[in-house]
Amino acid sequence: MNSYYSNLIEGHDTHPIDIEKALKSNFSKNLKSRSLQIEAKAHINVSKSISEKVSSTKLNPYSSSFLKDIHKEFYAHFPTKFMAAKSINGKDTPVIPGEIRTCEVQVGKHIAPAAKEVEHFLNRFETFYNPDAVVNRNDKIKRIISIAASHQRLTWIHPFIDGNGRVVRLFSDACFQLENLNGSGLWSLSRGLSRNEFLYKEKLVNADLKKWNNYDGRGNLSNKELINFCSFFLNTAIDQVKFMTKVLDIDNMINRIYSYVDLMVSKKLLKTETRYILETVFLKDKISKKDVERITDKSDKTAKAMAASLMKLNLLTVDPKNHLSPYKVNYPISSSPILFSGLYPKDKEIDMLMRISN
Ligand SMILES: Nc1ncnc2c1ncn2[C@@H]1O[C@H](COP(=O)(O)OP(=O)(O)O)[C@@H](O)[C@H]1O
Ligand SMILES: [Mg+2]
Repeated sequence: MNSYYSNLIEGHDTHPIDIEKALKSNFSKNLKSRSLQIEAKAHINVSKSISEKVSSTKLNPYSSSFLKDIHKEFYAHFPTKFMAAKSINGKDTPVIPGEIRTCEVQVGKHIAPAAKEVEHFLNRFETFYNPDAVVNRNDKIKRIISIAASHQRLTWIHPFIDGNGRVVRLFSDACFQLENLNGSGLWSLSRGLSRNEFLYKEKLVNADLKKWNNYDGRGNLSNKELINFCSFFLNTAIDQVKFMTKVLDIDNMINRIYSYVDLMVSKKLLKTETRYILETVFLKDKISKKDVERITDKSDKTAKAMAASLMKLNLLTVDPKNHLSPYKVNYPISSSPILFSGLYPKDKEIDMLMRISN
């Protein structure tokens, strides 16, 4: 979901079902669709790797080495179709994974700082926002506001020739995670920004403006507009946390599992007893093969066939290296319109449901 929305903000609308297929290395023959699928997969992989890094090492997400790493990992597995961008003079320039730009760029009206100054700006960025710096270490609220402000400032620096939007949003995800505010990835900043894409870009642009007068902050840029952006950004985050709490609605999950199974039974894709298997894996995370028989009250053969039908729909997984391993819970993207309704835009959800029918 996070990947879907972050790419969507850049105008890359990859159908969630195609993202799911990409994760299983099932790519389209059409060049454009395939490129979008590869891009989505690259985004998901880099996002996973960032979150492992943040949880296992004590890193400063504001460091230029971390930012370059995000870009490098993202572009290392990128579709060739998207590996070039236009510089300010309209020349096609190749995107080199992890490399700071060496040419000048303009985004909308914003002429980004001169290429030769980018390293300098990134160093200042790293020191200023460093969560371990004396001025930040004991002030959590300040650090949270910094997540918002740094998002704008990094977009303003525009360190790379392309991919800045995605890299900056991945970087913000890492900052939230570092502060233990990302809810294990259960809410998505990009979803919120995408739903308000116009306001997001407008407020980013406004905060690029020169200060209005001597009372508008100490720097060159408008402090008032930066505050405006921060308020928008943090309210968007809070709104997404509330939204996800509503969508997950854990107390009603079992009812939704039952509705989902009813639909699949009507399409002859599942047997009605599979609901008990899904209910158990939801509550316990896994279920042994013996328990599948017990819970469905079916013979070994029938129980196996039911588990196989759930595996086919990606609602159960097993460890391929251990045939004795229990079945584990899994929620494929295609089940989201019923199990977690609202995650994707309505038209995409309707389409996903239609595809189940066929
Ligand atoms: N006028 C602007 N000022 C600052 N940032 C902008 C402006 N217009 C667009 N942006 C940001 O630049 C991003 C696009 O930059 P780009 O390097 O092409 O990233 P990506 O390849 O991820 O789309 C947008 O997502 C937006 O965040
Ligand atoms: Mg771009």
